[in-house]
Amino acid sequence: MIKFITFFLFTLSSYASEISKAIVETQVNESFITKFEYGKMLYNNPRGISCAKCHGADAKGMVLSKFKHYEKKNTYYCEIKTDDITRVSLDVFKAKLDPEIKEKRPKFGEGEVCAKMIYGNTMPKYFLTQNELESIYYYITQLNKK
Ligand code: HEC
Repeated sequence: MIKFITFFLFTLSSYASEISKAIVETQVNESFITKFEYGKMLYNNPRGISCAKCHGADAKGMVLSKFKHYEKKNTYYCEIKTDDITRVSLDVFKAKLDPEIKEKRPKFGEGEVCAKMIYGNTMPKYFLTQNELESIYYYITQLNKK
């Protein structure tokens, strides 16, 4: 009888730990969904022009427009496009979006006429909080795993 009870208690306690493990896992999953969904919502509707409009719904980049530019008797065929941002580093992301960080403008060479014109002149400024920025970053970097 004692043996039986011990066995019973043992099974019970291992059940209990299974159950509490399951609860913890559900909580983790739920917060994962929330953060992902929140980031997704902000990416699509960030109080301003939607990031998706220029970076694509999958954040993998797209061509926005092409134009001809004349300068010093030369013709340049420029293309405004966005690159894949699903693997962007947090530093680059923040430099671009954090209103507290002043973006360092890269130096453009002689021939980089198009890049020099386009850089920093297409993407609008946003006023997102640190929490919002973190959620968007989380969302876009999760997209690279899809
Ligand atoms: C009107 C178009 C437009 C919108 C809207 C836009 N972007 Fe951009 N974004 C660009 C262009 C063009 C570039 C590349 C040129 C540059 O860096 O200025 C860029 C660059 C970036 C970069 C830097 C990529 C790199 O590798 O250097 C990040 C990160 C980024 N955008 C994120 C976002 C997020 C997040 C949003 C929404 C909150 C957003 N963008 C909204 C056009 C846009």
